[in-house]
Amino acid sequence: MAPRKKAAKAKTKTAAKESARKAVKLKAAKKPAAKAAAGNGLPRPSSKPWGQAGRALDGVRILDFTHVQSGPTCTQLLAYMGADVIKVERPGVGDITRGQLRDVKGADSLYFTMLNGSKRSITIDSKHPKGKEILDRLVKTCDVLVENFAPGALDRMGLTFENIRKLNPRMIVASVKGFGPGPYEDCKVYENVAQCAGGSASTTGFRDGPPLVTAAQIGDSGTGLHLALGIVSALYQRLRTGRGQRVLCAMQDGVLNLARVKLRDQQRLQHGPLTEYSQYGEGIPFGKATPRAGNDSGGGQPGWILKCKGWEDDPDAYVYFITQAPVWGAICDLIGKPEWKTDPDFATPPARLPRLRQIFNTIEQWTLTKTKFEVMEICNKLDIPVGPILSMKELAEEPSLRATGTVVEVDHPTRGPYLTVGNPIKLSDSPADVRRSPLLGEHTDEILRRVLGYSAPEIAEIRASGAVTAPDKPAKAEAA
Ligand code: COA
Repeated sequence: MAPRKKAAKAKTKTAAKESARKAVKLKAAKKPAAKAAAGNGLPRPSSKPWGQAGRALDGVRILDFTHVQSGPTCTQLLAYMGADVIKVERPGVGDITRGQLRDVKGADSLYFTMLNGSKRSITIDSKHPKGKEILDRLVKTCDVLVENFAPGALDRMGLTFENIRKLNPRMIVASVKGFGPGPYEDCKVYENVAQCAGGSASTTGFRDGPPLVTAAQIGDSGTGLHLALGIVSALYQRLRTGRGQRVLCAMQDGVLNLARVKLRDQQRLQHGPLTEYSQYGEGIPFGKATPRAGNDSGGGQPGWILKCKGWEDDPDAYVYFITQAPVWGAICDLIGKPEWKTDPDFATPPARLPRLRQIFNTIEQWTLTKTKFEVMEICNKLDIPVGPILSMKELAEEPSLRATGTVVEVDHPTRGPYLTVGNPIKLSDSPADVRRSPLLGEHTDEILRRVLGYSAPEIAEIRASGAVTAPDKPAKAEAA
Protein backbone atom coordinates (compact mmCIF):
# COMPACT_ATOMS: atom_id res chain seq x y z
CA MET A 1 0.00 0.00 0.00
CA ALA A 2 1.33 3.43 -0.86
CA PRO A 3 1.84 5.86 2.08
CA ARG A 4 -1.12 8.02 2.90
CA LYS A 5 -1.73 11.05 4.98
CA LYS A 6 -2.87 10.44 8.55
CA ALA A 7 -6.12 12.37 8.23
CA ALA A 8 -7.11 10.58 5.06
CA LYS A 9 -6.31 7.27 6.70
CA ALA A 10 -8.51 8.02 9.68
CA LYS A 11 -11.34 9.09 7.39
CA THR A 12 -10.92 5.95 5.34
CA LYS A 13 -11.00 3.76 8.41
CA THR A 14 -14.21 5.35 9.61
CA ALA A 15 -15.84 4.96 6.21
CA ALA A 16 -14.70 1.35 5.92
CA LYS A 17 -16.02 0.66 9.41
CA GLU A 18 -19.31 2.28 8.49
CA SER A 19 -19.63 0.27 5.31
CA ALA A 20 -18.71 -2.93 7.15
CA ARG A 21 -21.47 -2.22 9.62
CA LYS A 22 -23.92 -1.72 6.79
CA ALA A 23 -22.84 -4.91 5.05
CA VAL A 24 -23.44 -7.10 8.02
CA LYS A 25 -26.82 -5.89 9.08
CA LEU A 26 -27.68 -9.54 9.48
CA LYS A 27 -25.65 -9.48 12.68
CA ALA A 28 -28.46 -7.39 14.00
CA ALA A 29 -29.37 -10.14 16.42
CA LYS A 30 -28.50 -7.47 19.00
CA LYS A 31 -31.47 -5.23 18.31
CA PRO A 32 -32.39 -2.69 20.95
CA ALA A 33 -34.50 -4.26 23.66
CA ALA A 34 -37.40 -1.89 22.96
CA LYS A 35 -37.78 -3.36 19.50
CA ALA A 36 -37.78 -6.96 20.67
CA ALA A 37 -40.97 -8.80 21.34
CA ALA A 38 -41.35 -9.91 24.92
CA GLY A 39 -39.53 -13.13 25.63
CA ASN A 40 -38.33 -14.53 22.35
CA GLY A 41 -35.67 -11.93 21.46
CA LEU A 42 -36.97 -11.54 17.91
CA PRO A 43 -38.05 -8.25 16.38
CA ARG A 44 -41.69 -7.41 16.57
CA PRO A 45 -43.61 -8.06 13.33
CA SER A 46 -43.21 -5.02 11.12
CA SER A 47 -46.14 -2.67 11.02
CA LYS A 48 -45.19 -1.58 7.49
CA PRO A 49 -47.50 -2.66 4.64
CA TRP A 50 -46.56 -5.88 2.84
CA GLY A 51 -43.76 -5.29 0.38
CA GLN A 52 -42.60 -2.11 2.10
CA ALA A 53 -40.47 -3.59 4.85
CA GLY A 54 -37.35 -3.89 2.72
CA ARG A 55 -36.20 -6.91 0.76
CA ALA A 56 -35.38 -10.37 2.04
CA LEU A 57 -31.61 -10.00 1.72
CA ASP A 58 -31.28 -6.29 2.48
CA GLY A 59 -28.00 -5.72 4.31
CA VAL A 60 -26.24 -8.73 2.80
CA ARG A 61 -23.23 -7.76 0.73
CA ILE A 62 -21.79 -10.21 -1.75
CA LEU A 63 -18.34 -10.26 -3.28
CA ASP A 64 -19.24 -11.79 -6.60
CA PHE A 65 -16.25 -13.44 -8.20
CA THR A 66 -18.36 -15.47 -10.61
CA HIS A 67 -18.27 -15.82 -14.36
CA VAL A 68 -20.03 -17.59 -17.22
CA GLN A 69 -23.33 -19.06 -16.01
CA SER A 70 -23.41 -21.17 -12.85
CA GLY A 71 -22.10 -18.63 -10.36
CA PRO A 72 -23.81 -15.62 -11.97
CA THR A 73 -27.17 -17.43 -11.80
CA CYS A 74 -26.72 -17.70 -8.05
CA THR A 75 -25.64 -14.13 -7.41
CA GLN A 76 -28.29 -12.68 -9.72
CA LEU A 77 -30.95 -14.45 -7.73
CA LEU A 78 -29.49 -13.12 -4.47
CA ALA A 79 -29.44 -9.64 -6.00
CA TYR A 80 -33.10 -10.01 -6.97
CA MET A 81 -33.72 -10.84 -3.30
CA GLY A 82 -32.12 -7.55 -2.27
CA ALA A 83 -28.46 -8.41 -1.65
CA ASP A 84 -25.85 -5.85 -2.70
CA VAL A 85 -23.90 -7.88 -5.25
CA ILE A 86 -20.51 -6.49 -6.20
CA LYS A 87 -19.23 -8.26 -9.28
CA VAL A 88 -15.44 -8.23 -9.55
CA GLU A 89 -14.18 -8.41 -13.12
CA ARG A 90 -10.84 -8.31 -14.82
CA PRO A 91 -10.04 -4.79 -16.11
CA GLY A 92 -10.68 -4.35 -19.80
CA VAL A 93 -11.92 -7.91 -20.17
CA GLY A 94 -14.67 -8.65 -17.70
CA ASP A 95 -16.75 -11.77 -17.56
CA ILE A 96 -16.00 -13.64 -20.78
CA THR A 97 -19.70 -13.86 -21.59
CA ARG A 98 -19.90 -10.09 -22.12
CA GLY A 99 -18.52 -10.74 -25.58
CA GLN A 100 -19.88 -14.22 -26.26
CA LEU A 101 -22.81 -14.83 -28.64
CA ARG A 102 -22.96 -11.09 -29.24
CA ASP A 103 -26.05 -9.95 -31.17
CA VAL A 104 -25.56 -6.16 -30.96
CA LYS A 105 -22.17 -4.86 -32.04
CA GLY A 106 -20.26 -3.26 -29.19
CA ALA A 107 -22.89 -4.07 -26.57
CA ASP A 108 -22.79 -6.66 -23.81
CA SER A 109 -24.31 -9.91 -25.00
CA LEU A 110 -27.62 -11.22 -23.78
CA TYR A 111 -25.68 -14.14 -22.35
CA PHE A 112 -24.14 -11.66 -19.93
CA THR A 113 -26.99 -9.25 -19.41
CA MET A 114 -29.52 -11.95 -18.57
CA LEU A 115 -27.28 -13.44 -15.86
CA ASN A 116 -25.96 -10.31 -14.20
CA GLY A 117 -28.95 -8.09 -13.56
CA SER A 118 -29.25 -6.01 -10.41
CA LYS A 119 -25.49 -6.22 -9.69
CA ARG A 120 -22.74 -3.61 -9.47
CA SER A 121 -19.48 -4.06 -11.39
CA ILE A 122 -16.01 -3.16 -10.19
CA THR A 123 -12.89 -3.96 -12.19
CA ILE A 124 -9.93 -5.21 -10.18
CA ASP A 125 -6.83 -6.99 -11.37
CA SER A 126 -6.67 -9.62 -8.68
CA LYS A 127 -3.03 -10.35 -9.45
CA HIS A 128 -1.90 -6.73 -9.06
CA PRO A 129 -0.55 -5.90 -5.57
CA LYS A 130 -2.86 -2.93 -5.24
CA GLY A 131 -5.70 -5.04 -6.61
CA LYS A 132 -5.04 -7.62 -3.90
CA GLU A 133 -5.18 -4.89 -1.30
CA ILE A 134 -8.56 -3.71 -2.59
CA LEU A 135 -9.80 -7.28 -2.62
CA ASP A 136 -8.72 -7.75 0.99
CA ARG A 137 -10.70 -4.70 1.91
CA LEU A 138 -13.71 -6.10 0.05
CA VAL A 139 -13.35 -9.39 1.89
CA LYS A 140 -13.48 -7.52 5.20
CA THR A 141 -16.59 -5.66 4.09
CA CYS A 142 -18.67 -8.44 2.53
CA ASP A 143 -20.74 -11.22 4.02
CA VAL A 144 -20.37 -13.77 1.24
CA LEU A 145 -17.77 -14.48 -1.42
CA VAL A 146 -19.14 -16.44 -4.36
CA GLU A 147 -16.85 -17.91 -7.01
CA ASN A 148 -16.85 -20.49 -9.74
CA PHE A 149 -13.28 -20.42 -10.99
CA ALA A 150 -11.49 -23.53 -12.06
CA PRO A 151 -10.19 -25.51 -9.06
CA GLY A 152 -7.25 -23.76 -7.41
CA ALA A 153 -7.69 -20.36 -9.09
CA LEU A 154 -8.98 -18.60 -5.97
CA ASP A 155 -6.12 -20.00 -3.89
CA ARG A 156 -3.65 -18.80 -6.52
CA MET A 157 -5.03 -15.30 -5.98
CA GLY A 158 -4.08 -15.69 -2.32
CA LEU A 159 -7.69 -16.04 -1.26
CA THR A 160 -7.48 -19.37 0.52
CA PHE A 161 -10.25 -20.07 2.98
CA GLU A 162 -7.75 -19.69 5.83
CA ASN A 163 -6.62 -16.27 4.61
CA ILE A 164 -10.20 -15.15 4.09
CA ARG A 165 -11.12 -16.30 7.59
CA LYS A 166 -8.24 -14.33 9.03
CA LEU A 167 -9.53 -11.21 7.31
CA ASN A 168 -13.17 -11.85 8.07
CA PRO A 169 -14.21 -14.83 10.21
CA ARG A 170 -17.86 -14.18 9.35
CA MET A 171 -17.29 -14.60 5.63
CA ILE A 172 -19.20 -17.34 3.84
CA VAL A 173 -17.16 -18.66 0.93
CA ALA A 174 -19.39 -20.28 -1.66
CA SER A 175 -18.06 -22.15 -4.68
CA VAL A 176 -19.32 -24.01 -7.70
CA LYS A 177 -16.98 -26.67 -9.00
CA GLY A 178 -17.50 -29.29 -11.66
CA PHE A 179 -16.90 -32.24 -9.35
CA GLY A 180 -16.66 -32.72 -5.62
CA PRO A 181 -13.61 -34.29 -3.95
CA GLY A 182 -12.56 -37.40 -5.85
CA PRO A 183 -10.88 -38.47 -9.06
CA TYR A 184 -12.20 -35.57 -11.15
CA GLU A 185 -11.97 -32.71 -8.66
CA ASP A 186 -9.34 -30.83 -10.66
CA CYS A 187 -11.31 -30.86 -13.92
CA LYS A 188 -12.78 -27.80 -15.59
CA VAL A 189 -16.43 -28.34 -16.33
CA TYR A 190 -19.11 -26.76 -18.49
CA GLU A 191 -22.85 -27.35 -18.60
CA ASN A 192 -23.01 -30.36 -20.88
CA VAL A 193 -20.11 -32.10 -19.18
CA ALA A 194 -22.08 -31.89 -15.95
CA GLN A 195 -25.26 -33.13 -17.61
CA CYS A 196 -23.35 -36.15 -18.85
CA ALA A 197 -21.47 -36.81 -15.61
CA GLY A 198 -24.55 -36.28 -13.44
CA GLY A 199 -26.73 -38.96 -15.02
CA SER A 200 -29.02 -36.72 -17.02
CA ALA A 201 -27.70 -37.45 -20.51
CA SER A 202 -27.73 -41.24 -20.13
CA THR A 203 -31.40 -41.10 -19.21
CA THR A 204 -32.51 -38.43 -21.70
CA GLY A 205 -33.48 -39.12 -25.31
CA PHE A 206 -35.01 -42.07 -27.07
CA ARG A 207 -34.06 -45.66 -26.40
CA ASP A 208 -32.81 -46.23 -29.92
CA GLY A 209 -30.84 -42.96 -30.07
CA PRO A 210 -27.69 -41.61 -28.40
CA PRO A 211 -27.66 -39.93 -24.97
CA LEU A 212 -29.02 -36.38 -25.15
CA VAL A 213 -28.31 -33.17 -23.31
CA THR A 214 -31.28 -31.10 -22.30
CA ALA A 215 -31.86 -27.43 -23.07
CA ALA A 216 -32.62 -26.47 -19.49
CA GLN A 217 -29.26 -25.55 -17.97
CA ILE A 218 -29.48 -27.95 -15.09
CA GLY A 219 -25.69 -28.11 -14.71
CA ASP A 220 -25.01 -24.39 -14.63
CA SER A 221 -28.19 -22.66 -13.55
CA GLY A 222 -29.31 -25.69 -11.56
CA THR A 223 -26.10 -25.69 -9.54
CA GLY A 224 -26.32 -21.92 -9.10
CA LEU A 225 -29.72 -22.43 -7.51
CA HIS A 226 -28.34 -25.07 -5.18
CA LEU A 227 -25.55 -22.69 -4.23
CA ALA A 228 -28.01 -19.90 -3.44
CA LEU A 229 -29.81 -22.17 -1.01
CA GLY A 230 -26.48 -23.11 0.58
CA ILE A 231 -25.62 -19.44 1.01
CA VAL A 232 -28.85 -18.37 2.67
CA SER A 233 -28.65 -21.44 4.93
CA ALA A 234 -25.10 -20.48 5.94
CA LEU A 235 -26.21 -16.90 6.55
CA TYR A 236 -28.94 -18.20 8.80
CA GLN A 237 -26.56 -20.47 10.70
CA ARG A 238 -24.16 -17.56 11.09
CA LEU A 239 -26.79 -15.74 13.12
CA ARG A 240 -26.28 -18.43 15.78
CA THR A 241 -22.62 -19.27 15.42
CA GLY A 242 -21.22 -15.87 14.48
CA ARG A 243 -18.88 -17.50 11.98
CA GLY A 244 -18.86 -18.12 8.26
CA GLN A 245 -18.26 -21.41 6.51
CA ARG A 246 -17.56 -22.88 3.12
CA VAL A 247 -20.39 -23.82 0.80
CA LEU A 248 -19.54 -26.11 -2.07
CA CYS A 249 -21.84 -27.22 -4.85
CA ALA A 250 -20.44 -29.60 -7.42
CA MET A 251 -22.23 -29.55 -10.76
CA GLN A 252 -22.23 -33.34 -10.95
CA ASP A 253 -24.02 -33.46 -7.58
CA GLY A 254 -26.51 -30.79 -8.61
CA VAL A 255 -27.43 -32.62 -11.80
CA LEU A 256 -27.75 -35.93 -9.97
CA ASN A 257 -30.01 -34.26 -7.43
CA LEU A 258 -32.26 -33.09 -10.26
CA ALA A 259 -32.12 -36.52 -11.90
CA ARG A 260 -32.88 -38.39 -8.69
CA VAL A 261 -35.99 -40.09 -10.14
CA LYS A 262 -33.66 -41.92 -12.51
CA LEU A 263 -31.55 -43.18 -9.59
CA ARG A 264 -34.86 -44.27 -8.09
CA ASP A 265 -35.56 -46.27 -11.25
CA GLN A 266 -32.06 -47.75 -11.19
CA GLN A 267 -32.86 -49.32 -7.85
CA ARG A 268 -36.33 -50.41 -8.90
CA LEU A 269 -34.77 -52.33 -11.80
CA GLN A 270 -33.43 -54.85 -9.29
CA HIS A 271 -37.01 -55.82 -8.53
CA GLY A 272 -38.41 -56.08 -12.03
CA PRO A 273 -39.14 -54.10 -15.18
CA LEU A 274 -40.13 -50.44 -15.09
CA THR A 275 -43.72 -50.97 -16.07
CA GLU A 276 -44.54 -47.32 -16.74
CA TYR A 277 -41.80 -47.04 -19.40
CA SER A 278 -43.28 -47.60 -22.87
CA GLN A 279 -40.43 -50.03 -23.48
CA TYR A 280 -42.27 -52.39 -21.12
CA GLY A 281 -45.45 -52.27 -23.14
CA GLU A 282 -43.47 -52.87 -26.30
CA GLY A 283 -42.01 -56.06 -24.84
CA ILE A 284 -38.41 -54.84 -24.99
CA PRO A 285 -36.33 -56.23 -22.12
CA PHE A 286 -34.54 -53.87 -19.74
CA GLY A 287 -30.77 -53.81 -19.40
CA LYS A 288 -28.71 -53.22 -16.28
CA ALA A 289 -29.03 -49.44 -16.12
CA THR A 290 -31.94 -46.99 -16.21
CA PRO A 291 -32.73 -46.59 -19.92
CA ARG A 292 -33.67 -43.50 -21.88
CA ALA A 293 -37.42 -43.11 -21.77
CA GLY A 294 -38.20 -40.71 -24.59
CA ASN A 295 -41.17 -38.62 -23.57
CA ASP A 296 -42.51 -41.08 -21.03
CA SER A 297 -43.63 -39.40 -17.86
CA GLY A 298 -41.11 -39.61 -15.02
CA GLY A 299 -43.84 -40.33 -12.48
CA GLY A 300 -46.52 -42.95 -12.00
CA GLN A 301 -49.03 -41.39 -14.41
CA PRO A 302 -48.28 -42.30 -18.04
CA GLY A 303 -47.87 -39.40 -20.46
CA TRP A 304 -46.60 -38.62 -23.94
CA ILE A 305 -46.17 -35.74 -26.37
CA LEU A 306 -48.88 -35.68 -29.03
CA LYS A 307 -49.28 -33.78 -32.27
CA CYS A 308 -51.92 -31.09 -32.53
CA LYS A 309 -53.56 -29.26 -35.40
CA GLY A 310 -50.94 -27.46 -37.49
CA TRP A 311 -47.99 -29.68 -36.54
CA GLU A 312 -46.98 -29.97 -40.23
CA ASP A 313 -45.92 -26.30 -40.29
CA ASP A 314 -45.39 -25.44 -36.64
CA PRO A 315 -42.60 -27.38 -34.90
CA ASP A 316 -44.18 -26.60 -31.53
CA ALA A 317 -47.78 -27.66 -32.29
CA TYR A 318 -47.70 -30.41 -29.69
CA VAL A 319 -49.18 -31.07 -26.30
CA TYR A 320 -48.06 -33.19 -23.37
CA PHE A 321 -50.96 -35.43 -22.40
CA ILE A 322 -51.18 -37.33 -19.12
CA THR A 323 -53.58 -40.23 -18.72
CA GLN A 324 -54.10 -39.65 -15.02
CA ALA A 325 -56.05 -42.57 -13.57
CA PRO A 326 -58.83 -40.60 -11.80
CA VAL A 327 -59.85 -38.89 -15.07
CA TRP A 328 -59.58 -41.93 -17.29
CA GLY A 329 -63.35 -41.98 -17.80
CA ALA A 330 -63.36 -38.35 -18.95
CA ILE A 331 -60.50 -39.08 -21.36
CA CYS A 332 -62.37 -42.04 -22.87
CA ASP A 333 -65.50 -39.92 -23.42
CA LEU A 334 -63.47 -37.06 -24.88
CA ILE A 335 -61.67 -39.15 -27.48
CA GLY A 336 -64.76 -41.11 -28.47
CA LYS A 337 -63.83 -44.37 -26.76
CA PRO A 338 -66.45 -44.68 -23.97
CA GLU A 339 -66.21 -48.47 -24.19
CA TRP A 340 -62.64 -48.34 -22.82
CA LYS A 341 -64.09 -47.36 -19.46
CA THR A 342 -65.33 -50.89 -18.91
CA ASP A 343 -63.16 -52.92 -21.28
CA PRO A 344 -60.90 -55.06 -19.04
CA ASP A 345 -57.95 -54.33 -21.37
CA PHE A 346 -58.24 -50.59 -20.69
CA ALA A 347 -60.28 -50.04 -17.54
CA THR A 348 -57.44 -50.18 -14.98
CA PRO A 349 -53.97 -48.61 -14.89
CA PRO A 350 -52.13 -51.98 -14.85
CA ALA A 351 -54.21 -53.23 -17.81
CA ARG A 352 -53.32 -50.10 -19.75
CA LEU A 353 -49.55 -50.27 -19.22
CA PRO A 354 -48.82 -52.76 -22.02
CA ARG A 355 -51.08 -50.75 -24.36
CA LEU A 356 -49.79 -47.24 -23.87
CA ARG A 357 -48.62 -46.85 -27.45
CA GLN A 358 -52.10 -47.78 -28.76
CA ILE A 359 -53.76 -45.50 -26.21
CA PHE A 360 -51.64 -42.47 -27.05
CA ASN A 361 -52.02 -43.05 -30.79
CA THR A 362 -55.79 -42.99 -30.29
CA ILE A 363 -55.69 -39.85 -28.15
CA GLU A 364 -53.53 -38.23 -30.80
CA GLN A 365 -56.25 -38.77 -33.40
CA TRP A 366 -58.31 -36.44 -31.21
CA THR A 367 -55.56 -33.88 -30.43
CA LEU A 368 -54.81 -33.64 -34.16
CA THR A 369 -58.23 -32.04 -34.59
CA LYS A 370 -57.47 -29.23 -32.12
CA THR A 371 -54.79 -26.59 -31.59
CA LYS A 372 -52.63 -27.09 -28.51
CA PHE A 373 -54.46 -24.23 -26.81
CA GLU A 374 -57.86 -25.76 -27.60
CA VAL A 375 -56.68 -29.05 -26.13
CA MET A 376 -55.55 -27.18 -23.04
CA GLU A 377 -58.85 -25.36 -22.67
CA ILE A 378 -61.01 -28.44 -23.16
CA CYS A 379 -58.91 -30.73 -20.97
CA ASN A 380 -58.44 -28.28 -18.13
CA LYS A 381 -62.20 -28.02 -17.72
CA LEU A 382 -62.25 -31.81 -17.28
CA ASP A 383 -59.26 -31.79 -14.89
CA ILE A 384 -57.16 -33.72 -17.40
CA PRO A 385 -53.52 -32.66 -16.96
CA VAL A 386 -52.09 -31.45 -20.27
CA GLY A 387 -49.41 -28.95 -21.20
CA PRO A 388 -48.97 -27.10 -24.49
CA ILE A 389 -45.43 -27.17 -25.89
CA LEU A 390 -44.70 -23.45 -25.70
CA SER A 391 -42.03 -21.93 -27.88
CA MET A 392 -39.64 -19.30 -26.55
CA LYS A 393 -41.45 -16.82 -28.79
CA GLU A 394 -44.74 -17.61 -27.12
CA LEU A 395 -43.19 -17.37 -23.67
CA ALA A 396 -41.57 -14.03 -24.49
CA GLU A 397 -44.95 -12.66 -25.55
CA GLU A 398 -47.08 -14.24 -22.81
CA PRO A 399 -48.84 -11.41 -20.93
CA SER A 400 -49.33 -13.36 -17.71
CA LEU A 401 -45.56 -13.92 -17.35
CA ARG A 402 -45.00 -10.19 -17.82
CA ALA A 403 -47.68 -9.45 -15.23
CA THR A 404 -46.04 -11.64 -12.59
CA GLY A 405 -42.54 -10.33 -13.25
CA THR A 406 -41.25 -13.69 -14.44
CA VAL A 407 -40.41 -12.09 -17.78
CA VAL A 408 -39.19 -8.52 -17.38
CA GLU A 409 -38.15 -5.90 -19.90
CA VAL A 410 -35.28 -3.70 -18.74
CA ASP A 411 -33.50 -0.88 -20.53
CA HIS A 412 -29.76 -0.89 -21.19
CA PRO A 413 -27.59 2.09 -22.12
CA THR A 414 -25.78 0.43 -24.99
CA ARG A 415 -28.06 -2.32 -26.22
CA GLY A 416 -31.49 -0.78 -25.51
CA PRO A 417 -34.41 -2.71 -24.00
CA TYR A 418 -34.06 -6.45 -23.54
CA LEU A 419 -36.04 -9.23 -21.93
CA THR A 420 -34.76 -11.08 -18.95
CA VAL A 421 -36.13 -13.74 -16.65
CA GLY A 422 -37.08 -12.08 -13.40
CA ASN A 423 -37.27 -13.80 -10.04
CA PRO A 424 -39.11 -17.10 -10.38
CA ILE A 425 -39.35 -17.24 -6.58
CA LYS A 426 -42.10 -14.94 -5.36
CA LEU A 427 -41.93 -13.61 -1.81
CA SER A 428 -45.03 -11.80 -0.64
CA ASP A 429 -43.12 -9.30 1.52
CA SER A 430 -40.02 -8.93 -0.64
CA PRO A 431 -40.70 -7.69 -4.17
CA ALA A 432 -38.01 -8.70 -6.66
CA ASP A 433 -35.42 -6.09 -7.53
CA VAL A 434 -34.85 -6.71 -11.25
CA ARG A 435 -32.56 -4.15 -12.88
CA ARG A 436 -30.29 -4.15 -15.93
CA SER A 437 -26.80 -5.60 -15.81
CA PRO A 438 -23.91 -3.22 -15.14
CA LEU A 439 -21.41 -2.06 -17.73
CA LEU A 440 -17.87 -3.27 -17.18
CA GLY A 441 -16.46 -1.37 -14.22
CA GLU A 442 -19.48 0.92 -14.07
CA HIS A 443 -19.37 1.13 -10.29
CA THR A 444 -15.62 0.98 -9.71
CA ASP A 445 -15.28 4.49 -8.28
CA GLU A 446 -18.55 4.29 -6.38
CA ILE A 447 -17.51 1.07 -4.65
CA LEU A 448 -13.98 2.26 -3.94
CA ARG A 449 -15.36 5.41 -2.38
CA ARG A 450 -18.62 4.48 -0.73
CA VAL A 451 -18.11 0.84 0.16
CA LEU A 452 -14.38 0.71 0.79
CA GLY A 453 -13.88 4.25 2.00
CA TYR A 454 -11.02 5.27 -0.29
CA SER A 455 -10.52 9.01 -0.60
CA ALA A 456 -10.43 10.83 -3.96
CA PRO A 457 -6.60 11.07 -3.99
CA GLU A 458 -6.36 7.39 -3.12
CA ILE A 459 -8.72 6.50 -5.94
CA ALA A 460 -6.61 8.54 -8.34
CA GLU A 461 -3.56 6.67 -7.09
CA ILE A 462 -5.33 3.32 -7.54
CA ARG A 463 -6.31 4.23 -11.08
CA ALA A 464 -2.79 5.29 -11.92
CA SER A 465 -1.44 2.00 -10.55
CA GLY A 466 -3.29 -0.03 -13.19
CA ALA A 467 -5.06 -2.16 -10.57
CA VAL A 468 -8.53 -1.29 -11.82
CA THR A 469 -7.97 -0.28 -15.43
CA ALA A 470 -6.86 -2.17 -18.49
CA PRO A 471 -3.19 -1.44 -19.24
CA ASP A 472 -3.80 -0.11 -22.74
CA LYS A 473 -6.97 1.87 -22.07
CA PRO A 474 -7.42 5.21 -20.32
CA ALA A 475 -9.57 5.00 -17.21
CA LYS A 476 -12.48 6.94 -18.74
CA ALA A 477 -12.98 4.51 -21.63
CA GLU A 478 -13.41 1.59 -19.28
CA ALA A 479 -17.15 1.42 -19.30
CA ALA A 480 -17.59 2.23 -22.99
N1 COA B 1 -7.97 -10.34 -12.34
C1 COA B 1 -6.96 -11.11 -12.73
N2 COA B 1 -7.10 -12.42 -13.02
C2 COA B 1 -8.35 -12.92 -12.96
C3 COA B 1 -9.46 -12.16 -12.57
C4 COA B 1 -9.23 -10.80 -12.25
N3 COA B 1 -10.22 -9.99 -11.87
N4 COA B 1 -10.56 -12.94 -12.61
C5 COA B 1 -10.15 -14.16 -12.99
N5 COA B 1 -8.83 -14.16 -13.20
C6 COA B 1 -7.98 -15.27 -13.61
C7 COA B 1 -7.98 -16.40 -12.59
O1 COA B 1 -7.16 -16.06 -11.51
C8 COA B 1 -7.45 -17.53 -13.43
O2 COA B 1 -6.04 -17.44 -13.52
P1 COA B 1 -5.01 -18.63 -13.16
O3 COA B 1 -5.54 -19.86 -13.81
O4 COA B 1 -3.74 -18.12 -13.74
O5 COA B 1 -4.96 -18.77 -11.70
C9 COA B 1 -7.98 -17.21 -14.81
O6 COA B 1 -8.48 -15.87 -14.75
C10 COA B 1 -9.06 -18.06 -15.42
O7 COA B 1 -9.91 -18.66 -14.50
P2 COA B 1 -10.63 -20.04 -14.90
O8 COA B 1 -11.70 -20.27 -13.91
O9 COA B 1 -9.60 -21.13 -15.02
O10 COA B 1 -11.28 -19.71 -16.32
P3 COA B 1 -11.37 -20.60 -17.64
O11 COA B 1 -12.02 -19.73 -18.65
O12 COA B 1 -10.09 -21.19 -18.02
O13 COA B 1 -12.36 -21.80 -17.24
C11 COA B 1 -14.42 -22.76 -16.48
C12 COA B 1 -13.74 -21.62 -17.24
C13 COA B 1 -15.90 -22.42 -16.37
C14 COA B 1 -14.25 -24.06 -17.24
C15 COA B 1 -13.79 -22.89 -15.08
O14 COA B 1 -13.84 -21.63 -14.44
C16 COA B 1 -14.47 -23.91 -14.20
O15 COA B 1 -14.30 -25.12 -14.36
N6 COA B 1 -15.26 -23.46 -13.19
C17 COA B 1 -15.89 -24.30 -12.22
C18 COA B 1 -17.07 -25.00 -12.77
C19 COA B 1 -18.08 -24.07 -13.36
O16 COA B 1 -18.58 -23.17 -12.74
N7 COA B 1 -18.43 -24.35 -14.61
C20 COA B 1 -19.55 -23.75 -15.26
C21 COA B 1 -19.30 -22.46 -15.82
S1 COA B 1 -20.84 -21.86 -16.42
